[in-house]
Amino acid sequence: KRFVLLISGRGSNMQAIVKMAKNRPGIHVAAVISHSRNSKGLEWAKEQGITVHEILNKDYDSRESFDQALQAIIDTHQPDYVLLAGFMRILTEKFVRHYHGRLINIHPSLLPSFPGLDTHQQALDAGVLLHGCTIHFVTPVLDHGPIIAQAAVPVLKTDTADELAQRVLGIEHIMFPSVVGYLAEDIVKLGDNGKVIYKREV
Ligand code: GRF
Repeated sequence: KRFVLLISGRGSNMQAIVKMAKNRPGIHVAAVISHSRNSKGLEWAKEQGITVHEILNKDYDSRESFDQALQAIIDTHQPDYVLLAGFMRILTEKFVRHYHGRLINIHPSLLPSFPGLDTHQQALDAGVLLHGCTIHFVTPVLDHGPIIAQAAVPVLKTDTADELAQRVLGIEHIMFPSVVGYLAEDIVKLGDNGKVIYKREV
């Protein structure tokens, strides 16, 4: 299966996926795309010999025209799945619908708690004892699509938002590559009823 990965900057989730894909002939990272200049992650992907594209949103005068350009580049790679691996931009409904069932996001909270930004601070402010990350199919409503996988970590009394973010990131790097494996092997997909279907237990 062919995967296109969209990132914003650091790209540590993308790196975890690329490293895993090296030993998996069924998983091909066709391209990595960033919308910001000098993305560290994009540099790394290029060094790995992966096709990379920098499409700067600031070069476009509307969200629609940026998403259209993004879609055009993505589709030259004919991906089975498009992964939002730390892609910090809201996508237009048209874009999201074009990739229905093929667009996957990782969000650093246990959804439906704490959608949006600053999720780790949100978790500390709420006083929850468990926090984590969610991988879901993307639908037009931000951070609300059908959930594929979740993992939890404890929140410690002494945690700063950064410490909590690091702990969550650790499980993101395990969970996202696993989910990519499930997608590649058709173990999981989005059903016609809009619900996630697991073909067999994992
Ligand atoms: C991750 O925590 C991801 O869940 C969130 O932004 C962060 C991106 O990190 N959306 P990286 O770019 O994968 O290192």
